Amino acid sequence: MTEVKAGSCAVVIVAAGSGQRLGHGVPKARVPLGGDAMLVHAVHGVMKAGIAAQICVAIPADDAELSAMCQRLGAEAATQGVLFSVVEGGAQRSASVFSALAQIAQGITTVMIHDAARPLTPSGVFNRVAAALRDGAKAVIPALAVVDTIKTVVPATLPATGAGLEKVSGTPARNQLRAVQTPQGFDLQTLRQAHAHAQTLDDEAASLITDDAMLVEAIGVEVYVVQGSTHSFKVTSPMDLLLAEAMLEGPLRPRWIEG
Ligand code: C5P
Repeated sequence: MTEVKAGSCAVVIVAAGSGQRLGHGVPKARVPLGGDAMLVHAVHGVMKAGIAAQICVAIPADDAELSAMCQRLGAEAATQGVLFSVVEGGAQRSASVFSALAQIAQGITTVMIHDAARPLTPSGVFNRVAAALRDGAKAVIPALAVVDTIKTVVPATLPATGAGLEKVSGTPARNQLRAVQTPQGFDLQTLRQAHAHAQTLDDEAASLITDDAMLVEAIGVEVYVVQGSTHSFKVTSPMDLLLAEAMLEGPLRPRWIEG
């Protein structure tokens, strides 16, 4: 196993999703944004933040284009003294993270897990997460207060027709809710423990895992919250792509640059 300076941070970028909701017909990491693939933006964002001794990218199996892209990114990372590794992702996001955790270099003590689907995440967010880890947090996530009122729902049928709908089962207090983003930062050992525990879950429970912090919460570790950024939004729908393009290339670009 390759070695880096003791006490360093690695960033895992998960890019093995299919990205079907974008409707491009190619894995989301390959979707172009302002002339570069989404994955290229995500990797450049990590390098610009200057917090990583290693970047490990999880990509779909047998994707020759993404493999070639990673080779170029690896060469670029090497010029900055950053170790670059690539792993084959799994069927679920958590499986992709699990594969990447096996490739973390000796000397790494903290790790951030980042979505390739958040290509415009500013350096400031990486720095805030890194600072909380340095200050002793074992787990830290960036988040934003929510602007919409959020309801929980359950399946229901209309009384007269029996037509299937949903009905409200509760309204959590909005001031206690946060919309959670990536990069999520962890003490490496803690995250490995959390993922080892996740391996014991059945398929149904595993399918409900939507972020890494959930796994750490499940083993009783406190997860701290730092300020996220509106720029870190996840590119999921064609509308998000439009916004990301406008931020990168539109006439308003100078207003959108956040450090
Ligand atoms: O599907 P979702 O939008 O939650 O995906 C978030 C991130 O996780 C994306 O960057 C996607 O590429 C990644 N992912 C993965 N392996 C999977 C599913 C998603 O690396 N099996």
